[in-house]
Amino acid sequence: MDDLLARFREAVGEAHVLVEPDVRAGYELDWTGRFLGTTPAVVRPGSTEEVAAVVQACGAAGVALVPQGGNTGLVGGSVPLAGEVVLSLRRLNGLGPIDELAGQVTVGAGVTLAAVQAHAVASGWAVGIDLAARDSATIGGMVATNAGGLAFLRHGGMRDQLAGVEAVLGDGTVVSHLGGLRKDNTGYDLAALLCGSEGTLGVVTAVRLRLVAPVVERCTALVAVEGVAAALGAVGTLRRAGVVLEAAELFLDDGMQLVCDFLGVARPLAAAPAYLLVEWAGEVEDLGVIDAVDAVVADDAGRRESLWRYREAHTEAVNALGVPHKLDVTLPLPALAAFVADVPGAVAAVAPGSRVVLFGHVADGNIHVNVVGPPADDESVDDAVLRLVVERGGSISAEHGIGTAKKRWLHLARTEAELHAFRSIKRALDPSGILNPNVLVP
Ligand code: FAD
Ligand code: MLT
Ligand code: ZN
Repeated sequence: MDDLLARFREAVGEAHVLVEPDVRAGYELDWTGRFLGTTPAVVRPGSTEEVAAVVQACGAAGVALVPQGGNTGLVGGSVPLAGEVVLSLRRLNGLGPIDELAGQVTVGAGVTLAAVQAHAVASGWAVGIDLAARDSATIGGMVATNAGGLAFLRHGGMRDQLAGVEAVLGDGTVVSHLGGLRKDNTGYDLAALLCGSEGTLGVVTAVRLRLVAPVVERCTALVAVEGVAAALGAVGTLRRAGVVLEAAELFLDDGMQLVCDFLGVARPLAAAPAYLLVEWAGEVEDLGVIDAVDAVVADDAGRRESLWRYREAHTEAVNALGVPHKLDVTLPLPALAAFVADVPGAVAAVAPGSRVVLFGHVADGNIHVNVVGPPADDESVDDAVLRLVVERGGSISAEHGIGTAKKRWLHLARTEAELHAFRSIKRALDPSGILNPNVLVP
């Protein structure tokens, strides 16, 4: 290890090899507090060449590493659970000029989503992806997890925003394809492959992003509805009426109470079984096509932000209850309402007395099942929920990825032939198996 630390210092400079326990601590624990590891060192390269040098040094020493961006991942994939070196990409924070003709920009992997959003807005563009962790989540981490988020309904996930990627593979070679050509049919799509690979195939160092047009006339409404089926019905009605939805988010009444208590704010409308937060490009009158129990509408930035807080603060409010088991899943839309009704019973059967908080990106069929109560290492609740999801035709990960948290259940979602192909790809791009070897691929 002393030799390896010396090689790290040579590659990135003494100041960027962090070995003091109190400095390392923030890199060793995940955002939820459920996954805690330990690392001999956090290495912070400042360029692609430095990343390559660190990866080569780890390869030569046979020491594994965990790439880390903002450490906001929710599946235990960004922390050193088996004593890996942490490779922090946050210093790769360059913002390239906006390509006004193509509507694209090249940014460093360590740039936060909020920084790219501000950069795009300053030039009259917008980024087609958004999440509540925007101030900390990095573009490299979002590529690695193929993040979804609040704008998925309108613009798709991270893979849909990609026009190119630069990365360092497991043997230290750099693959770079950042030209951003719209039509470029020249073989394997490495950007698409690296997207969602969770740091197991390459370390993303730079990303070419597609930008989208900003919404000028934006309305936001928090709508009280009778339940999940009514929320889905309202979304369908709005879409059929030609309303261009930018977002359609769902939460339940116990979540509303939890968030109000957590933030110390009043309810924005009378209690109802569920709430649908919709945002669209258009006018307040467009909402007239749906039957709502009650609704609050915002058409200016300040009121819009306060309505979004009721939805976005769910994650922090759940964490404040205790260490959560976070089960991010998708169901076919016709099965969603019954799943939401049945999941508390499935949890109670294996972990009586647990608190279950459900919310999510309803139009995508994506529900976040949060369970607080079982100890961090007790996986019975994870098992019960994920098996129920698969029984109902859903996916065990909608947008957070597999990480270490769901690796045990990947076989429920992927065939043995697919897993064999995964392992072959892993061996080809990371021959010594040093890139995040304990996540995703069983
Ligand atoms: P990290 O947590 O640092 O890492 C995540 C994974 O990516 C790890 O496996 C890590 O090894 C790998 N990785 C990180 N950087 C690189 C790199 N440069 N190269 C290769 N591998 C890398 N997610 C959603 O999809 N939708 C949401 O709506 C959403 N909302 C959230 C809200 C809150 C409040 C929080 C805390 C999290 C939320 N997340 C959401 C989860 C999280 O923000 C995303 O997974 C995000 O993409 C992680 O980015 P990060 O930079 O923090 O990555
Ligand atoms: C969200 O949609 O708010 C995120 O995915 C975070 C979470 O699941 O808590
Ligand atoms: Zn989400």
